Amino acid sequence: MGYDFDKVYDRRGTNSLKWDFAKERHHSEDEIPLWVADMDFKAPDAIIKALHEAAERGFFGYTQDKREDREIVSEWLYRRHGYRPDPDEILFAPGVVFALTMAVLACTELNNAVMISEPVYYPFSSLVKDTKRRLVRNVLFHDEKGHYEIDFDSFEKQIKNNDVKAYILCSPHNPVGRVWTLEELTKLGEICLRHGVIVFADEIHADFVYEDNKHIPFAAISPEFERGSVTFTSPSKTFNIAGLQIAEVIAHDKEIRNKIRSTTSGMGYAEVPVTGLAAMKAAYTECDEWVDSLVAYIYGNVTYMENYIKERVPRLRMTHPEGTYLPWVDFMGLGLKKRDLEELIRNKAKLWLDAGYIFGESGEGFQRFNVACPRATLTSAMERLTSNI
Ligand SMILES: Cc1ncc(COP(=O)(O)O)c(C=O)c1O
Repeated sequence: MGYDFDKVYDRRGTNSLKWDFAKERHHSEDEIPLWVADMDFKAPDAIIKALHEAAERGFFGYTQDKREDREIVSEWLYRRHGYRPDPDEILFAPGVVFALTMAVLACTELNNAVMISEPVYYPFSSLVKDTKRRLVRNVLFHDEKGHYEIDFDSFEKQIKNNDVKAYILCSPHNPVGRVWTLEELTKLGEICLRHGVIVFADEIHADFVYEDNKHIPFAAISPEFERGSVTFTSPSKTFNIAGLQIAEVIAHDKEIRNKIRSTTSGMGYAEVPVTGLAAMKAAYTECDEWVDSLVAYIYGNVTYMENYIKERVPRLRMTHPEGTYLPWVDFMGLGLKKRDLEELIRNKAKLWLDAGYIFGESGEGFQRFNVACPRATLTSAMERLTSNI
């Protein structure tokens, strides 16, 4: 079946954070928003249908997840990524950031060190600081092509020197677009095991991988890794349903799972929303073909943007994304100061992007784009950019 990802929808006036909050967030209304990881594609029909049916019933009271719902999650992960967690080891949460926060609270103590690899999705550093843990910033290194890797020597040294208790893995990595290899994940996992560091694997971008890259669920690598980690996933990125507030936490170790469960209920979270549950079920059982087409379309956008930049603005350097729909572009070749770069992006090109420094100091001079939009939107953005450089 064909899906029309080229169709441009006017999302203004829909309470969209991406499109309707320019003023509140000190941006101008005429900037093309390519910032927050929210796609400008409608959710698949099966999800819309499931929500229509729920709406027509007209009851939005409490619900609770059943084993069969958790089986659906497990089957989806197995079908797509070869990882079949025990359904009874899956917990639901309203979002991945919320769940990560609960896991940090549950599995570490006040002032314990929690490490992240920067540049990385900025709520990681915020949640570590907000939970009054010590933030340890491991910095990824990159070569002249913008390919990022973990410096395992410094990774291990930082764990030892700071007595790190937990590491938040972003896999695939937002914003540098890495899909970590089995070798890298194994190395990372062995270091963490050696030093008793629990790995919180945020795998929310797992479905967006390109070419011959393959997402490897961290917990699927070995029974030791499964025991020493917690996996976080969600249909929210893949199906563009972040507003429906449903995510999954997979904790094989019973003690860890119970701690996360009681911390979460201690925060007052009880049940999944009836709408989120209905959407999750439709997403994970009826939309495989839609996801395949979506990923192929986005890969087309990634390639378009990469070629466009190489040919038209070679002073910029785009990291070749192995995964995610969030290309990472180095603007340092323009030799602009922070303020002038902001002036170029916002006031001249009229784009709303995520400035690199918000992902950590090492992101300074970079910008993160979101190409989960119709090609026409991306083309306009590229044209605005080139005509102002
Ligand atoms: C790596 C990563 N984790 C988590 C999230 C957000 O997840 P949620 O909305 O479920 O909290 C995002 C959204 O962009 C993300 O990129």
